[in-house]
Amino acid sequence: MADFPRRYHITTFGCQMNKADSERMAGILEDMGFQWTETAEQADLVLYNTCTIRDNAEQKVYSYLGRQAKRKHQQPNLTLVVAGCVAQQEGEALLRRVPELDLVMGPQHANRLRDLLEQVFAGNQVVATEAAHIYEDITKPRRDSQVLAWVNVIYGCNERCTYCVVPNVRGVEQSRRPEAIRADLEALAAQGYKEVTLLGQNIDAYGRDLPGATPEGRHLYTLTELLYFLHDVPGIDRIRFATSHPRYFTERLIRACAELPKLCEHFHIPFQSGDSDLLKAMSRGYSRERYLRIIDTLRRYMPDASISADAIVGFPGETEQQFEKTLSLVEQVGFDLVNTAAYSPRPGTPAAVWENQLSEAVKDDRLQQLNHLVNLKAAERSQRYLGRVEAVLVEDQNPKDPTQVMGRTRGNRLTFFTGNIAELKGQTVAVKITTVRPFSLTGEPIAQPVAVC
Ligand code: SAH
Ligand code: SF4
Ligand code: F3S
Repeated sequence: MADFPRRYHITTFGCQMNKADSERMAGILEDMGFQWTETAEQADLVLYNTCTIRDNAEQKVYSYLGRQAKRKHQQPNLTLVVAGCVAQQEGEALLRRVPELDLVMGPQHANRLRDLLEQVFAGNQVVATEAAHIYEDITKPRRDSQVLAWVNVIYGCNERCTYCVVPNVRGVEQSRRPEAIRADLEALAAQGYKEVTLLGQNIDAYGRDLPGATPEGRHLYTLTELLYFLHDVPGIDRIRFATSHPRYFTERLIRACAELPKLCEHFHIPFQSGDSDLLKAMSRGYSRERYLRIIDTLRRYMPDASISADAIVGFPGETEQQFEKTLSLVEQVGFDLVNTAAYSPRPGTPAAVWENQLSEAVKDDRLQQLNHLVNLKAAERSQRYLGRVEAVLVEDQNPKDPTQVMGRTRGNRLTFFTGNIAELKGQTVAVKITTVRPFSLTGEPIAQPVAVC
């Protein structure tokens, strides 16, 4: 392959799952001899790892693609790849829309990038979107951080939330074997990584597709067991997991988190709506009361736990009173962070064809009201940090102030303090918090030994 293109660029849209897939695909490309370049314009191979969760996420991809498709007319050697969830959703239709594309590949094919590119370099236009068993990846991912790493533990989602495209594009649940996950953590520790986030769209479902059951008929593998199994990997100081589904969030799991010192007291548990009837229409499988009970139990075991969530406003048929239930839930729980979104009808999902859609104006208005409250509550939650000494794991330099470094508390608050990144990267430092903002903190390092976990 003499005229093999050599520089690659990946732009990643969407969630942590996509970011983790991109890091593995970058690892594969580097293994093939490609070198990373910062801008798509300089690259010989451009890969867009796409998201289709809402319409605006999808439209963004088309505008980026249009630019590269034009470039391909001047530079026929340019290889254009669309991976991820838009690729899965659109498949062949994407080739009709953008004939300049070389490869369209769904998320289940991320680990097969090398094989697929070899077909492209042999002169084919390739579409890989059939349902596939996800093979263990043998390439070393090219990770963005040298301190924190994401590790997939379960792919896909078996839920059927009526607004959501994820099950259509990510396929059925596929859990990785605990031994393979542990081997990843051991390799990460050997490379100097300190913190790991275990990933899954519905991570609480971990293990239910793996064979084996206890004599009482319970699944042999659960997230709780997995946490105990991974906890003693030496060198890994912090473990997090996301995303949790309230339907499966058990007291057993909460007890394990409270008991295991490396498990950080931060939980991402989307509630989507504060109204039980709307939750039913969303097919979420829990009520407002059940959600609040989970939060109570969490706080009983870990009073200082940070809690974040996702919420949707303007779901079809949402009345003013139902929306107010979402506001009152946010008021009552006091979240550290809520990712909010206006409902976006997605092709192939049940709610998209319901007749009781709300106007964009109503959705926008509700989104603004909710965001306002979320910010107020986050500011209140930040207050608890003022004057406290927090263990901060240093990740990087503050991009806006090179005299400062930044890292996170165990509760996941971004924290800045004066320091030299060359000395502090990957260290856990005791920081006295002097300034609080809704979503970040500033403090002073203090000479005090700090428990890393
Ligand atoms: N598996 C996670 C969430 C995955 S998608 C869970 O079950 O909570 C991330 C977030 O996008 C969702 O939590 C939801 O808040 C939002 N989302 C999903 N589909 C959406 C849609 N059609 N319109 C608006 N927001 C949506
Ligand atoms: Fe989508 Fe529901 Fe699965 Fe989350 S649990 S990915 S919202 S279908
Ligand atoms: Fe988007 Fe796919 Fe994640 S649709 S949110 S990138 S699973």
